[in-house]
Amino acid sequence: MNNRQIVLDRLPAGDKLAPDHFALNVGERPTAGEGQVLLKTRYISLDAANRAWMQGATYRSALEGGQVMAGGGLSEVVESNVGHLKPGDLVFADAGWQEYAVLQGKTLSKLPDLKPETHLLSVYGIAGLTAYFGLLECGQPKAGDTVVVSAAAGSVGSIVGQIAKIKGCRVVGIAGGEEKGRWLTEELGFDAAVDYKSPEFKRQLRAAVPDGIDVFFDNTGGPIFEACLFAMKNFGRIACCGALSQYDGAPPPHGPRGIPGLIVTKRLTLRGFVVMDFAAQNDQALADLQGWVASGQLKVKEDIIDGLENLPSALIGLLGGENRGKRMVRV
Ligand SMILES: NC(=O)c1ccc[n+]([C@@H]2O[C@H](COP(=O)([O-])OP(=O)(O)OC[C@H]3O[C@@H](n4cnc5c(N)ncnc54)[C@H](OP(=O)(O)O)[C@@H]3O)[C@@H](O)[C@H]2O)c1
Repeated sequence: MNNRQIVLDRLPAGDKLAPDHFALNVGERPTAGEGQVLLKTRYISLDAANRAWMQGATYRSALEGGQVMAGGGLSEVVESNVGHLKPGDLVFADAGWQEYAVLQGKTLSKLPDLKPETHLLSVYGIAGLTAYFGLLECGQPKAGDTVVVSAAAGSVGSIVGQIAKIKGCRVVGIAGGEEKGRWLTEELGFDAAVDYKSPEFKRQLRAAVPDGIDVFFDNTGGPIFEACLFAMKNFGRIACCGALSQYDGAPPPHGPRGIPGLIVTKRLTLRGFVVMDFAAQNDQALADLQGWVASGQLKVKEDIIDGLENLPSALIGLLGGENRGKRMVRV
């Protein structure tokens, strides 16, 4: 009746996330009280945001040293004291990095019966919905537009680029290393890829977008944001999705230069968003995503690692660029 858990032992203080920030703990398996549900974790989603939550309050409270590491995932109902869920049902739950968790039943809804079930965490989960709404609602791409996406080989970015292709855009992905770039162009159908780690990054970017950028989907902030800002066309749109270049380690020495003058003269629109903002439109988004996956227009890349004990190294590796597509851990 044990419950293995990964605890965030101490918060990183300006240093990079390391294995010794975490500890493995063996607790007691909880039981479900009134209105509650006992969940068994199947897969835990690894997200760049896991690291951002350690820096301070975001759209959720800041994490604290000593707590079970927070994270969402796919869980199976084991015991239920609510009418709308029964043992065996699958739910998406903010259950943390542990084998078992008890949550209030009213916060959970049964997920559809889809195969493979891991798609519920990738293309039909937060990554797919973030890509869909961020690009289509905030970026407003039109056929023929040039769309640039950063962290392009990651879970959100790889879907953004493919949806932009489906919408008839010219797509440029920014990712680390030539190998990831080849994967984007040869496997996912991006028109060009740019390596932000190359000393030639800015020249490569200029060559890839000779007429400028209509829509920039920004996952990274920092120097990539700054370089793309200068390459924006007049009336361009920037979908501000995340700032993962600034999550791990010391704060950057300065913000992007060129603001606000460039934004004014280029008449740019920058829109930040959180995927939950569009929850009322999830059904339409999921129908579109399912259609594109079924027709083969949208390829789903998942990067699955086994073992609860490997969660810390899996997150550190994601921040270091190990993953292609959606990284998750099978518990
Ligand atoms: N707004 C929302 O509602 C929402 C929802 C979900 C996620 N997000 C955001 O979406 C972004 C992607 O997150 P994800 O969890 O899907 O991660 P991910 O893209 O699957 O993985 C992170 C990738 O970022 C790249 N990277 C790491 N450090 C970088 C740096 N300094 N500069 C540029 N690229 C770097 C790495 O690839 P390389 O090899 O290319 O470096 C790595 O593979 C994050 O900013 C996250 O906060 C936002």
